[in-house]
Amino acid sequence: MTNTPMRNGGPAARIAVIPGDGIGREVTPEAVKVLRAVAVRGKRPLEFVEFDWGADRYLRDGISLPDGAVEMLRDEFDAILFGALGDPRVPGNQHAADILLGLRFKLDLYVNARPVELLQDRLTPLRDRTSNDVRIMVFRENTEGLYVGVGGFFKKGTADEIAVQEDVNSRKGVELIIRYAFEYARANGLKRVCMSDKSNAMTFAHDLWQRVFKEVRGEYGDIESRHLYIDTLAMEIVRDPRQFDVIVTCNLFGDIISDLGAQLAGGLGLAPSGNIHPGKTSLFEPVHGSAPNIAGKGIANPLGSVLTSAMMLEHLGRKGEAKVLREGVRSALKENFVTPDLGGSKGTVEVGDWLAEFAARGVRT
Ligand SMILES: NC(=O)c1ccc[n+]([C@@H]2O[C@H](COP(=O)([O-])OP(=O)(O)OC[C@H]3O[C@@H](n4cnc5c(N)ncnc54)[C@H](O)[C@@H]3O)[C@@H](O)[C@H]2O)c1
Repeated sequence: MTNTPMRNGGPAARIAVIPGDGIGREVTPEAVKVLRAVAVRGKRPLEFVEFDWGADRYLRDGISLPDGAVEMLRDEFDAILFGALGDPRVPGNQHAADILLGLRFKLDLYVNARPVELLQDRLTPLRDRTSNDVRIMVFRENTEGLYVGVGGFFKKGTADEIAVQEDVNSRKGVELIIRYAFEYARANGLKRVCMSDKSNAMTFAHDLWQRVFKEVRGEYGDIESRHLYIDTLAMEIVRDPRQFDVIVTCNLFGDIISDLGAQLAGGLGLAPSGNIHPGKTSLFEPVHGSAPNIAGKGIANPLGSVLTSAMMLEHLGRKGEAKVLREGVRSALKENFVTPDLGGSKGTVEVGDWLAEFAARGVRT
C-alpha cells in the first residue's frame, strides 16, 4: 500500500485505488495522473491510497479481499477507483469474485450505472448515426439476480450431472433500482425510461419486475415509461438507439446490454461505469476486463478509466472537474490522439500524459 496525500488546503476527498490485474494496472495510474492534474488546477485536494489486491497478491499469500477491508473502505474513503480483475493463472478467477462481487454486495452498491455515449461520430459501427443519436444511460441491478452465487451441483462430474443457478430478486431490490432510474431521468431532464426483462419466460422472477415497474411508473407521470423484452431491446437498440434515454434492467441483462451499448459508442476501451449506493462510498471502474491479450504491451486505452474518473468526481459533487476530464477525452478523440483499438498509434502513457496536460491547463497547448 502506498499513501500519497495531496493536500492543498481543506480536507481532501479520499480515494482508494485498486488497479487489480492486467491492463487495470496500466490504465488506472493514467487516470490517477489525470485526476491529480485536475485537482491541482482546481486547488481541490484529492488523496489517493493504493491497494495491491489482485492475482499476484492472491497467488503469493492466498489473500483476495483482506479481513476488515470492506469496513475500512466504507468508513475511511469517499470513493473507490478500480481497474480490472482477472488472471489466467487463477483457476475460476476466485480472487476476482471475492474482491469485485464482494465489494458490490457488501457495500450494497445496488446501482450499476453504465452510460453509453458516442463521443465521436466515426467510432460507431452503426451506419449514418451521429453522437446525437447514441446517448443512453443503462442502469443494471447490481446486487441480486443470477450473480448472487446461490445454486449447486448434483452428481457433479457424472453423465447425470445437474447444475442449478438461482435468480434471486427481492421486492426491495427491484424497487430500488427502478425508482433510481426514474429519479435519474427526472433529475437530468430525460423524458423516457425503458424497463427490460424476460417476463414472458421468467414467469416468477420477472413477474415481480413487471408488478414493481407498473407500481413505480405511476408515480412518475412526467416521464414516458415503456417495457421491452430483453431480446427485443437488443434488436431495437441497434436498429434505432435514438429511442432510448434511460434503460433499467436486471444484473445479467444489464451486463450484456451495456457491452452491446459500449460497442455502439466506440468499444470497451471507452466505456465507464459506476457501482453506486447513493450517499455512501461507491466504486467506479471501466467496463472492460483485464484484457490478458494486450496486457503488458503498453497499448491499453486509458480513456474508459478517465471517463470513469469523471463519473467518480461527479458522484463526489465535483462537476466542474468532471467536465474538464470529459472535454479532454473529446479533444483526444477529435485529434485522433488515441490507442490502436480506436485506430490510433499512441501508447497508454502517451494518452495519459496528453490528458493530464489538458486537465492541468483546461486545454492542451
Ligand atoms: N470488472 C472486471 O474486472 C471485469 C470485467 C470483464 C471481464 N473481466 C475479466 O477480464 C478477463 C478478460 O476478459 P475478456 O477478455 O472477456 O474481456 P476484456 O474486457 O478484458 O477484453 C475484451 C476485448 O476488449 C479489448 N479491450 C478491453 N479493454 C480494452 C482497453 N482498455 N483498451 C484496448 N482494448 C481493450 C481486449 O483486448 C479484448 O480484445 C477475464 O478474466 C474476465 O473475467 C473483468
